[in-house]
Amino acid sequence: MTHAQAKARHAELADQIRHHDYLYYVEAKPELSDREYDKLYHELLDLEKGFPDLITPESPSQRVGGEPLKAFKPVQHLTPMTSLDNTYSQEEVREFFGRLERLLPKENFESVVEPKVDGVAISLRFEKGKFTIGATRGDGTTGDDITVNLRTVRSIPMHLRKPKNDGIPDLVEVRGEVYMTLDGFKKLNVERIANNEEPFANPRNATAGSLKQLDPRMVATRPLDFVIYGVGVVEGGQKPASQVELLQWLKELGFKTPEKTWFCSSVDEVLQSIKDLDSVRRKFNYETDGAVIKLNSFAQREKAGFTSKAPRWAMAYKYEAEQAETKLKAVTIQVGRTGALTPVAELEPVHLAGTVVKRATLHNEDDMRRKDIRIGDTVTIQKAGEIIPEVMGVVLTKRNGQEQIFEFPRTCPECGSKVSRSGAAAEAVVWRCTNPDCPAQVRGRLEHYCARGAMDIEGGGEVLVRQLAN
Ligand code: IVH
Repeated sequence: MTHAQAKARHAELADQIRHHDYLYYVEAKPELSDREYDKLYHELLDLEKGFPDLITPESPSQRVGGEPLKAFKPVQHLTPMTSLDNTYSQEEVREFFGRLERLLPKENFESVVEPKVDGVAISLRFEKGKFTIGATRGDGTTGDDITVNLRTVRSIPMHLRKPKNDGIPDLVEVRGEVYMTLDGFKKLNVERIANNEEPFANPRNATAGSLKQLDPRMVATRPLDFVIYGVGVVEGGQKPASQVELLQWLKELGFKTPEKTWFCSSVDEVLQSIKDLDSVRRKFNYETDGAVIKLNSFAQREKAGFTSKAPRWAMAYKYEAEQAETKLKAVTIQVGRTGALTPVAELEPVHLAGTVVKRATLHNEDDMRRKDIRIGDTVTIQKAGEIIPEVMGVVLTKRNGQEQIFEFPRTCPECGSKVSRSGAAAEAVVWRCTNPDCPAQVRGRLEHYCARGAMDIEGGGEVLVRQLAN
């Protein structure tokens, strides 16, 4: 094969792969089987082996991550990345529109309500349709250049698609959120625990931690996704005139746009949309912590302008964290597979984010002491996403003097062996049973062995394992 032939075939394959990536990662409507896709991909890899100069930064082969970096370089955003004013109150949403009415007298307002995806804000630059620079927000003016990490995020296009009634812009800087899917987050934490690594507290931390990695090959293994919601600069192309048009245009350029948005013509409709979003957002495969309300018309945005920190034409309505109060009836100690003794709160059952919670984690002895949690206390519990609920703290005003301090055991409640606390700082908060034959540990290991991520033995749950161990 001549170089020219290889080059032509490579371009064809890269286009096909990009198209099928788009169908799979953006539209979630794949047309090829994995096998057919792999065939294209391997043909591309083979060509690049024979003709290494065909490897460009935008080649589909570069999605798996290149060489590790020493540090991230600073990037200046073409327009600043501002943040938003926040509120938890409907009254303040009305005041927001009241202010707009004073700024833009006698005008009608249309607005768009979007989910506020809980991830990390980023900016992406495309020059002549090619992805060139991706950066974190940083201080709003200058961010970190994380281009190589962002190339591994499959739903970020490396080439823009041509919009229906327009050409590809010469230069465009877009804004959106990188986030981790809930499925991916759960799987990642299961893997981390199995590898004796600290699990991430929530999908947002997992996303931020992933994007900060200097090794893009590591980032490529993380289940990151991207949703777009804004634009900074457009040159050499028709800039949309409203948020509705913008989202349509971004979609045509090949981006994943918010999966649900609400178009509103009054404050009441906005408030209703915020409620509607709250009732559907738990079905999304990512965390949302609020709604973003944006004026639809860009001409009106221009007139409304900015304060020193944030636009006057948008605001974030945040949903209350999912907390509840209940009584701590007792504390039990759970002995895990690795011998770790975890204090568990036995609670007066309480409704929280759609389920009845009877138990919650108290993490460890030090955490209980620090929060001064006593048996009989009224406590606040919180569910962060899909994670086990945790006891956040005590409602001190509800104490009556009858509460009792819990004495953490110095022997294993399962087998009576000595417990010890040692290891590195993060580890040393955990008491562990020192007996490897401890029945609780044996059960834990058996359950772990039978689990779905391991041998996947049907029926190998708690009941059978207990019988076996006995
Ligand atoms: S618009 C000037 N839209 O929330 C407008 N932000 O405090 C800037 N976010 O930094 C943001 N979903 O990280 C916008 N649909 C959405 C969003 C969204 C999540 C994040 C973003 C931003 C923060 C606002």
